[in-house]
Amino acid sequence: MRQDIQRILYHESTILSRLDELADALTGDYRGKDLTVIAILNGSFIFMADLLRRVPLPLQVDCWSVSSYHGTKSTGRIAFRQTELADVRGRHVLILDDILDSGITLLNIREHLAANSGTLSLKVCVLLRKKIDRPRLVDADYVGFDIPNEFVVGYGLDYNERYRNLPFIGVLTDEAIRRHDLSPATGAPLKTIIPG
Ligand code: IMP
Ligand code: MG
Repeated sequence: MRQDIQRILYHESTILSRLDELADALTGDYRGKDLTVIAILNGSFIFMADLLRRVPLPLQVDCWSVSSYHGTKSTGRIAFRQTELADVRGRHVLILDDILDSGITLLNIREHLAANSGTLSLKVCVLLRKKIDRPRLVDADYVGFDIPNEFVVGYGLDYNERYRNLPFIGVLTDEAIRRHDLSPATGAPLKTIIPG
């Protein structure tokens, strides 16, 4: 897998040092409060595990598995794959996600919580935030790293479900992107099958 990475953006040690800082901020802000952390799977599973082990508070954790349809012609909505979501009435909620890109995922999760919740507060913590224009409404309250608008993998982030287990965050080679591309080929020669 390493040979598929053209550039490492953040080594594991750099990520973990930044998580120490994020965890200190969260510990200070949520001390004495009833906190539920909602991690958005699959991308945030490593981030969640490393971050929350650094937060010595009696928090509760729930994992939401959502699928987004962005990049297709669909509405930009997301689907919740679970039927039962945690009861967060009367609790402070912190959403953890791997990366803030267009913000469609977080916008929908926020809307869902606003409609069903009774939460005392709702904040968002992301490991990565891409530098792109997006509505202010979907910005994050806690950010690990601001990154350029590039497609990155590793430390939980995937390309067509690969590379999540890389311990660092990096940029794929063009060759690896082509090799694992699942989109229908365009311009490929059509095979003519002549029966008989
Ligand atoms: P958004 O809804 O556009 O903000 O995208 C959120 C989701 O898209 C993230 O939780 C990731 O799963 C995925 N995503 C966006 N950018 C990247 C990337 O650079 N690498 C891997 N996954 C990404
Ligand atoms: Mg993904």
